[in-house]
Amino acid sequence: MTSSLSDRGRRLVVDAPMAEYIHAHFERLDDLWDPIGNPGGYIGLCVAENKLVWDLLEPKLTAPRQVPPSAVEYDEMIGGHSFRSRLAEFLGRRLYGRDIDPEHLAVLGGAGSVLELLFYAIADPGDGVLVPTPSYAGFWADLETRNELTIVPVHTSPADDFRLRMDQLEVAYRSAGRPVRALLYTTPSNPLGRVSSRPELEEVLGWAEGKDMHVVFDELFAMSVHGDASFVSAGTLRPTLGERMHLVWAVSKDLAASGLRCGVLVTENEAVIRAVDGLAYWACVSGDTQRLVEEMLADTDWVDAFVGENRRRLGNSYAQVTAALDAAGIPYLPAQAGFFFLVDFRPFLPQVNWAAEDALWRRILEEAKVNLTPGSSCRIEEPGFMRLCFAGVPHEAAVAGVRRIERVLASDA
Ligand SMILES: Cc1ncc(COP(=O)(O)O)c(C=O)c1O
Repeated sequence: MTSSLSDRGRRLVVDAPMAEYIHAHFERLDDLWDPIGNPGGYIGLCVAENKLVWDLLEPKLTAPRQVPPSAVEYDEMIGGHSFRSRLAEFLGRRLYGRDIDPEHLAVLGGAGSVLELLFYAIADPGDGVLVPTPSYAGFWADLETRNELTIVPVHTSPADDFRLRMDQLEVAYRSAGRPVRALLYTTPSNPLGRVSSRPELEEVLGWAEGKDMHVVFDELFAMSVHGDASFVSAGTLRPTLGERMHLVWAVSKDLAASGLRCGVLVTENEAVIRAVDGLAYWACVSGDTQRLVEEMLADTDWVDAFVGENRRRLGNSYAQVTAALDAAGIPYLPAQAGFFFLVDFRPFLPQVNWAAEDALWRRILEEAKVNLTPGSSCRIEEPGFMRLCFAGVPHEAAVAGVRRIERVLASDA
């Protein structure tokens, strides 16, 4: 059937950008765990979604609201002015500690679209982009699929507690074998769930500035800190962002609304905004969604209370799930932010190699009906780690999932 497709169309079918664990997740959604109706059902701990606060979100989304004609009309493709103004106020107040010019924002259909269009504007096919690992799996699809960039992984090591050193950036940069246009850095980190400190960010930014390269800070989990840490935005490091620093945020994580598809680029490079605008038509946020989110953000008391309660619930779920892992004797890397952390399965592998990691992932999926994100998808240099996302299910389900994993591991002993 693929013979009727173009070469690039065929590539999308044969070598799908979406990872196997995500397909496995969607295939099982009609068999979801339920404490009463389906206690043996599927428990998806592989997708970075937050469903712990739906009861807070639902009344806000379903409250009666005015829908002006502009909600169904064409508007600026990078977001209507009043929406961008509201977002600028919100992000300036919550993250950057200063006023942001709404003209320095572009709003697109999710952070994935923001990254794709931003990198289209700052790098050419064949160019390299440095990405520290462990990493969010989706960057490869975002940057490589249509933009034809090459991600140059900068591997950190479990022996160093996955801390990034500047000499690792330097080696990756020098051995990339291609022009390296940018560094893409995520804080809080996905999948580690760690918040970068100000000195860590200073070091990374200083290194990138020394190379005159673009540096993109993905700050999608900025307001989802649940542990003992304070988020520091890269937007606070310098008085201005300058031409080469760009920030990314979205409602997907911090407002627990990944399906609304609304991501934000913050850049002071007006040429970048203009270039992104040239492609925004194919990735814009619907007028109705813009209105909806604008109203949510306009209610500052509600949004501030939501963020606070969300952090509390994330902390509670994290505590329950990690307590279950502690009780089962399964090691993990502690996290302070986000919806996930890394579990260390190396002690349970017959040999620590990729085949053994893959085999264990499949056994956990088939025997325990629990789906984790394989470490290979997070591009971890060493096999044996998997990401556990705890916020996409009630904490009872996540704990039940850990107990099932424990049984799979015990059946090997
Ligand atoms: C670090 C990071 N960046 C970007 C994205 C993509 O977000 P969106 O759903 O808004 O496209 C994700 C989604 O999981 C993420 O974790």
